[in-house]
Amino acid sequence: MAAAAGGGSCFVLGASGQTGRALLRELLARRLFARVTLVGRRRLSLGEEAEAAVEQAVVDFERLSEHAAAFQGHDVGFCCLGTTRAEAGEAGFVRVDRDYVVQAAELARAGGCRHFVLQSSRGANRHSGFLYLRVKGEVEDLVQAVGFDHCTIFRPAVLLCKREESRPAEWVAQKFLGVVARVFPTAYSVPVETVARAMVAIVLQPGEGKVEVLENKTIHELGKAVPQQGT
Ligand SMILES: NC(=O)c1ccc[n+]([C@@H]2O[C@H](COP(=O)([O-])OP(=O)(O)OC[C@H]3O[C@@H](n4cnc5c(N)ncnc54)[C@H](OP(=O)(O)O)[C@@H]3O)[C@@H](O)[C@H]2O)c1
Repeated sequence: MAAAAGGGSCFVLGASGQTGRALLRELLARRLFARVTLVGRRRLSLGEEAEAAVEQAVVDFERLSEHAAAFQGHDVGFCCLGTTRAEAGEAGFVRVDRDYVVQAAELARAGGCRHFVLQSSRGANRHSGFLYLRVKGEVEDLVQAVGFDHCTIFRPAVLLCKREESRPAEWVAQKFLGVVARVFPTAYSVPVETVARAMVAIVLQPGEGKVEVLENKTIHELGKAVPQQGT
C-alpha cells in the first residue's frame, strides 16, 4: 500500500502496549487510515476523541478463529503484541509471542490483508539458544510463510519508553542505554516513538521485496524521515 493517507483500513494488535500506544498516536494524528481497528483482549479507555476514531474488537486469543470478523477487510496489520517469560511463564510467552501472532496473521491474510508489519526483536534467530530470540526467530519465519504481498519485520534493539509496569532489568538497561544513546544514538536502543514513525513510513512506502527485515539502525533512519508531529 504505497499511499495509505486518508483511506484504507488497518488493525493494530498490542495497541495498549508501549509501541502500540505510540503507533496509535501516530496513526490518529496523521489520519493515515479511514478505519483503524484495535484488536485486543480488553477494551481500552482512550479518551473521547480517540475512541470515536477507532473501532475496538475485544477477542479471546485462545479462540482467535472465532473472531475472524475482526481481521476482515484490512489493508494493513500492525503487530506489537508481546509478553515476557517473567509475566507469562515459558509456555505463556511462546503462546503469546508466537502462536497468537501467527494465528492473527493467518486470519488477517484470509481477510484480505496485504501488508503485515511485525515487531520482532534485534537478534531474532530460530536457532538461538535463548528462548526469547528463538521464539522471535520462529514467529518471523512463520509470519513470512503466511504469504502477504508485503511483510515488514522490525527488529528494534532495547525500546526506550516510560513503562509503568515494573521490569527491573529493562529499567536498568533503559537508564544505561539512555545515556549511551547520546553518544551512539542508533546502536543499542530506539525510542518507541521512532519505531512508530518508522512503521508509518514503511506503510506509506513499502520496500520492493515481499519480505523486508529492518534492523535497529534502519528503523532510526526511517523514523527520522517522517516529520515529528507538530514540527
Ligand atoms: N522491551 C524491549 O526493549 C523490546 C525490544 C525489542 C523488541 N521488543 C518486542 O516488541 C514487542 C512490543 O513490545 P512493547 O514493550 O511495546 O510491548 P508491551 O508494552 O509489553 O505491550 C504488549 C502488548 O501485548 C498485549 N498482550 C500481552 N500479553 C497478552 C495476552 N496474554 N493476550 C493478549 N494480549 C497480550 C498487551 O495487552 P494488555 O495491555 O492487555 O496486557 C499489550 O497490548 C514485543 O513483542 C517485544 O518482545 C521489545
